Amino acid sequence: MEIFNKFYKRSIQERRQIIIDTFNHADLFSSLHQDTYDNMIENAITTYEIPFGVAPGLIINNKSYVIPMATEEPSVIAAQANAAKIIAMNGGLTAKVINKDMIGQLAFYNPKESFESILENELEVLFKIANDAKPSIVNRGGGLKKITWDTKHSDNNGSFFIIYASIDTQEAMGANIVNTIMEALKNHLEPLFEQEATMAILSNLADESLVEVECILDPSTLKNSETIADKIQEASAFAQVDPYRASTHNKGIMNGIDALTLVSGNDTRAIEAGVHAYAARSGYYKGLSQWQSINGKLHGTMTLPVSVGTVGGTIKLNPKAQLAHEILGRPTKEELMIIIAAVGLAQNFAALYALTTDGIQKGHMALQARALILDCGATTSELDVLLPKVRNLKNPDKNTIMSLLDELRQ
Ligand code: MEV
Repeated sequence: MEIFNKFYKRSIQERRQIIIDTFNHADLFSSLHQDTYDNMIENAITTYEIPFGVAPGLIINNKSYVIPMATEEPSVIAAQANAAKIIAMNGGLTAKVINKDMIGQLAFYNPKESFESILENELEVLFKIANDAKPSIVNRGGGLKKITWDTKHSDNNGSFFIIYASIDTQEAMGANIVNTIMEALKNHLEPLFEQEATMAILSNLADESLVEVECILDPSTLKNSETIADKIQEASAFAQVDPYRASTHNKGIMNGIDALTLVSGNDTRAIEAGVHAYAARSGYYKGLSQWQSINGKLHGTMTLPVSVGTVGGTIKLNPKAQLAHEILGRPTKEELMIIIAAVGLAQNFAALYALTTDGIQKGHMALQARALILDCGATTSELDVLLPKVRNLKNPDKNTIMSLLDELRQ
């Protein structure tokens, strides 16, 4: 959208006005009401603020998105906007949802041999019990889809009989739906097994809610075009062999994913837990994305679990989450899953591109300069004067900035 060109150069009032005019939702700029947050958590005293910004122009499956993001990290939105620009020059990303069921678990410790045959005989009844536990989700076309089981041995010679249920939670992320169904199955099976279960709970390893995202970049659209594809391939390979690097590589991906997940009113801890468990699924923790230089082009791919919803939780209660959904064009859950994965790959590209060219500090310090100046007590008009000076400093420490500020005030 043209209107977002040089968005960062506009005043905050102008940016807000553009959002209001484009998305027609002035009312959604309001803060969480005291009565609302007091009922959301125990012992509430206030709310905790994080900046909410937008990064325009991310093209996914030929559609352009303005990405809302809530983050305190100065470089995340700048990186997102830069990556989106480069990705747009290359035709955008493509992404697809592979599946979108959530998994529930019901575990029994030290099972009797009879459990398996009891379960097999009871399957039909279990489907009915699951449907009866959550008729609203069944009416919307969702509900329990599959039951499987496995026995796993634990360290102390014990073992667990684990029942896995795949549940279509429709537009919701579905933690409550899954937990309600799992508890209903537990209540039915315990008397038949004549044994108490260890627990019934959703699994955050949402590997039946996978999204696959891909992007192909022409090195001629990048700096150091002769070598960049090989360098980014090398950086990606590093994250496949070393968990220390893989952790940081994936942190970069989650910079974008968390910022969008949070602002969309979804559970960032759920998505983090799922993503990192998925990254270690081979028994070795690895980078989630892979970049390869193929026939002169740089190919980035990533498959990851994205457990989010467009309804449920606090999405409806939080006007800013509503604003985020509005800015995204009111996506369905599938579309939101796709956008989240694409934002992750775009952030990852931005990080690897910076790391294999200028290094990360150049961009970070330029952005950090703002925070440092404000931290020294400068007003916003003083910030405008000091920013170019501080950006030119080799080592912009607090003492130097304080003396620049003193100088300015004299
Ligand atoms: C910083 O928040 C994220 C990076 O460290 C990610 C990476 O190293 O890939 C830049």
